[in-house]
Amino acid sequence: MRFDNGVFELAAGRSGQLPAGDLPEIVFSGKSNVGKSSLINKLLNRKNLARVSATPGKTATINFYRLDQARLVDLPGYGYAKVSLAEKKRWAELVEGYFQQERNLALVVQLVDMRHPPTKDDLHMIEFLCDGGFPFLVALTKSDKLNQTERRQRLAALEEAFSDYEGLRLIPFSSVTGEGVEELRGILSSVAEEPEELG
Ligand code: GTP
Ligand code: MG
Repeated sequence: MRFDNGVFELAAGRSGQLPAGDLPEIVFSGKSNVGKSSLINKLLNRKNLARVSATPGKTATINFYRLDQARLVDLPGYGYAKVSLAEKKRWAELVEGYFQQERNLALVVQLVDMRHPPTKDDLHMIEFLCDGGFPFLVALTKSDKLNQTERRQRLAALEEAFSDYEGLRLIPFSSVTGEGVEELRGILSSVAEEPEELG
């Protein structure tokens, strides 16, 4: 699958604006500021196609990026306390609407900051994905911020934190060093072409 010709397709602020779920979709989910947009840019080898910001809560819409045979779907980040209640409700309507629709969902990449334990919201999201039977894996972001000792400790702690989910893949990732990019591209290619593979 080609990753070098991705284009921005559409930003949906309400579930009624979502495009038809005709292509295999790879969804990126995670708390605000965890690195979703950075990861998408790295996958597509682009600097700022998906907008990256040091200000959390930047992506308030579901953003779709078109590849030849698939879409990448950037969900708005959750867990940002300063967002108004009205905004949170709109977010819930949008994201729940997305997951309730008949879509061709090939994989959810759940992002978790590798430096920290999963948040309550992270665990909530993973439980939701598990209950809904959505295929998912975990990308552990910002791996470049850890030294070798910290890295080993964090990996062990996160494996423990996710031990209820048998066979769950944890992929250390860094949009700075490029760690995990090739591995993720390989997985995305195989699920987009053969959606049942990760089941
Ligand atoms: P929202 O759109 O607000 O939900 O955030 P997001 O998850 O899309 O995060 P984004 O990609 O905008 O990154 C947030 C901040 O983290 C930015 O300052 C990025 O430069 C930084 N960042 C993202 N990924 C990495 C990484 O792998 N390593 C390091 N060191 N910084 C990162
Ligand atoms: Mg973003």
